[in-house]
Amino acid sequence: MWRYHNPVRIHFGTGAFDQVAGLIAGRRYATVSYDAPYFESLTRRLCAAAGPAVLRIDNITPNPDFTMLGAACARLAETREAPEVIVAIGGGSVIDAAKVLAVGGKGFHAVRAHLETGGRSRSLPGRAVPLIIVPTTAGTGSEVTSWATVWDTEAAKKYSLAREDLYPTDAIVDPALMLSLPRDHTISTGLDALSHALESLWNVNANPVSTNFAISAARGVLRHLGPLLADAADITQRGHMAQAATLAGLAFSNTKTALAHSLSYPATLHHGIPHGIACSFTLPAVMQSAIGANPACDEALRQIFGDDLATGVRNLSAFLDGLGIATDHNGHGIGDREWWGWLDEALDGERGQNFIAPRERVYEIFGGGAG
Ligand SMILES: NC(=O)c1ccc[n+]([C@@H]2O[C@H](COP(=O)([O-])OP(=O)(O)OC[C@H]3O[C@@H](n4cnc5c(N)ncnc54)[C@H](O)[C@@H]3O)[C@@H](O)[C@H]2O)c1
Ligand SMILES: [Fe+2]
Repeated sequence: MWRYHNPVRIHFGTGAFDQVAGLIAGRRYATVSYDAPYFESLTRRLCAAAGPAVLRIDNITPNPDFTMLGAACARLAETREAPEVIVAIGGGSVIDAAKVLAVGGKGFHAVRAHLETGGRSRSLPGRAVPLIIVPTTAGTGSEVTSWATVWDTEAAKKYSLAREDLYPTDAIVDPALMLSLPRDHTISTGLDALSHALESLWNVNANPVSTNFAISAARGVLRHLGPLLADAADITQRGHMAQAATLAGLAFSNTKTALAHSLSYPATLHHGIPHGIACSFTLPAVMQSAIGANPACDEALRQIFGDDLATGVRNLSAFLDGLGIATDHNGHGIGDREWWGWLDEALDGERGQNFIAPRERVYEIFGGGAG
């Protein structure tokens, strides 16, 4: 028995950004974005078409954390006319900040209490403010998921804010908005999408629909990231990557992620490794551990990597190598002791528990661990 569900309306294509004003449909709205000229111009373009926003939050920084979100929620709480819809224009950090704001109208303390009590505080509003999401990176898939990653940088902790009503109503995926994405972010966000696709396959929650999305997404990234890097202005390749990232989002929206993501959080918190690199440098080892654990997963991996999966692992390593990404923890400045501690914690964590392979197999492939 299986079930697949995703309520987000997706509007895809070059020029799709122009549809946002119509989707706001006269409602009071807030915008959320980064503090950078390009995003200022996009927000201005939207306001010219939709009328002024009741609130513009334009200082979102990468990996949204308690301090930054506290200030953003305080501004929302002070707004005289509460927005009826929130429009996010940016990558995963902006999208996830917008999701926090969607339930942050009473102030961030309520969100914080919710996160720190694992949802037991019942401090959040009954209904989230509806979300319209315009991703500007081809990576996180957050435009079609119902959760946000929230970072407590000071305490070195990562939380996931997850609620059914954090599924955006609409995702506007316009590849033209991604043309300005610098090379390093094109690589890291593209690899995040690849990781979402693969992590939804070697996952105890996988189903035939998520698997189909994941196969298309992974093939898309493997096929199109290289050509895009050769010509960053190629809108067709941007479109392929944008589509792959959203398909990966549709896949893991129903499965969540697995071991590679579980291992990535301490790498980002303690070593500042960008999310997309942190969750992808382990993919060859995680794939090798997954092979043989589940026939449906093996079959899906064959559709991506070809019949010989051992060669597939080597090709995946070579793909990362070609992008300048080391595939071992030392290559990222992570010491052995620290790493083995993380591996144990990752396997015990919720995302690690989603992984299909037995613990012993993981230790065997990763070549160590406390056991
Ligand atoms: N909610 C989810 O399902 C989910 C999934 C994966 C990752 N995440 C989270 O998303 C965050 C990472 O998001 P991200 O990788 O999209 O990057 P990001 O939003 O952190 O942005 C990274 C950088 O790229 C710049 N940028 C973004 N779009 C641009 C564009 N079109 N042109 C020029 N510059 C641009 C930003 O200004 C920023 O400096 C992390 O906090 C991660 O934990 C969430
Ligand atoms: Fe991710």
